Amino acid sequence: MFDNISLKLLLSLCIFLFSIQSILTLRCYECKDCTDVSCPCDNIVEVNANESFCILLRENLSNGINVEIKHIPRNFATHYEYTPYYISVEETIIYNKTIEKWSNQANKIVYACQTDECNRPNLLKELPANGLSLSLPSDWLNENLLRKTDQKMTTCNECPDVTVCGNKPYFVSPDQCSIQECEHFCIIGEKFTTIEATEYCYTSFCVPSDTQTPSIIIEAVYYIHNKDFRINETDIICHGVNCSRLEIFRDIKEKIQIDYTGVKPFLPGNHVNSIYSTSMSILLITIFFQSLISY
Ligand SMILES: *[C@@H]1O[C@H](CO)[C@@H](O)[C@H](O)[C@H]1NC(C)=O
Ligand SMILES: *[C@@H]1O[C@H](CO)[C@@H](O)[C@H](O)[C@H]1NC(C)=O
Ligand SMILES: *[C@@H]1O[C@H](CO)[C@@H](O)[C@H](O)[C@H]1NC(C)=O
Ligand SMILES: *[C@@H]1O[C@H](CO)[C@@H](O)[C@H](O)[C@H]1NC(C)=O
Ligand SMILES: *[C@@H]1O[C@H](CO)[C@@H](O)[C@H](O)[C@H]1NC(C)=O
Repeated sequence: MFDNISLKLLLSLCIFLFSIQSILTLRCYECKDCTDVSCPCDNIVEVNANESFCILLRENLSNGINVEIKHIPRNFATHYEYTPYYISVEETIIYNKTIEKWSNQANKIVYACQTDECNRPNLLKELPANGLSLSLPSDWLNENLLRKTDQKMTTCNECPDVTVCGNKPYFVSPDQCSIQECEHFCIIGEKFTTIEATEYCYTSFCVPSDTQTPSIIIEAVYYIHNKDFRINETDIICHGVNCSRLEIFRDIKEKIQIDYTGVKPFLPGNHVNSIYSTSMSILLITIFFQSLISY
């Protein structure tokens, strides 16, 4: 028969294995054919927690909405400060000529998480249709993106390559891009990639027609546990007088206004699971059993 010590050891080992097991597999809801936020999804898949996380997605399409309930591989997203607990959005701040006002359009919102069954289908309808309502002060937008009727030209970096990357922010090499006078408007984009080191990539070119409305498209991620909001991609349709001023991207990061009201159900302290609750319960169970064993 087992003596007391071996029994204790055996039990501790079982508890240890149980904890490891519950960390390494992740249960995500996953349904392929959801068409609206009331999707009745009850399919659960077990995936490797080290390699995947669960998501809920809601997206505005020209002819309605798209929703997704699934898991995605961790290496799929290229977030530079990477944790799989976030709300990510793609939103457009666009000028309406008729009413001379700026407004927000939310194009996409994703909730990502990594505890068992955390992407519960009934949370889809909690994903706010107006996203994080990203906005910027109108006077800043007017000054930087619009041009007065007496101002005929804008300056714009003309970069023949689709994107030019470097290790310095707000800079494109004069060898690769040249500043030109541009009659209509300039499209400028910035994005970060961190494959090995942080790279700042820019797109900039002059558009020889007057078709597009001044606007800014922003992709951003709010890391829930770090309370950290990051813009990772910005594209601007710039009609201002100086669209070669790449510091415009820094201004946006400094001046952006975010409304977290709609995403409250996904923040800690609400009914959505967090990694803390799972690790906490494992810890408590372990302590409970440990104290049982010691009697
Ligand atoms: C989890 O993934 C990382 C990176 O891919 C790897 O270094 C680590 O050994 C993995 N851990 C387990 C327990 O599989
Ligand atoms: C920025 O984040 C969004 C949302 O997670 C992602 O789809 C996109 O690929 C990211 N872009 C870059 C350049 O990392
Ligand atoms: C501009 O605003 C007016 C009044 O609210 C609205 O009717 C119109 O559809 C808007 N235009 C665009 C392009 O959104
Ligand atoms: C989608 O479009 C509608 C109508 O333009 C808008 O009210 C809503 O905020 C948009 N966003 C999402 C994420 O549905
Ligand atoms: C545009 O901005 C850049 C960078 O701030 C500056 O070097 C350049 O002189 C400005 N051009 C004009 C025409 O104001």
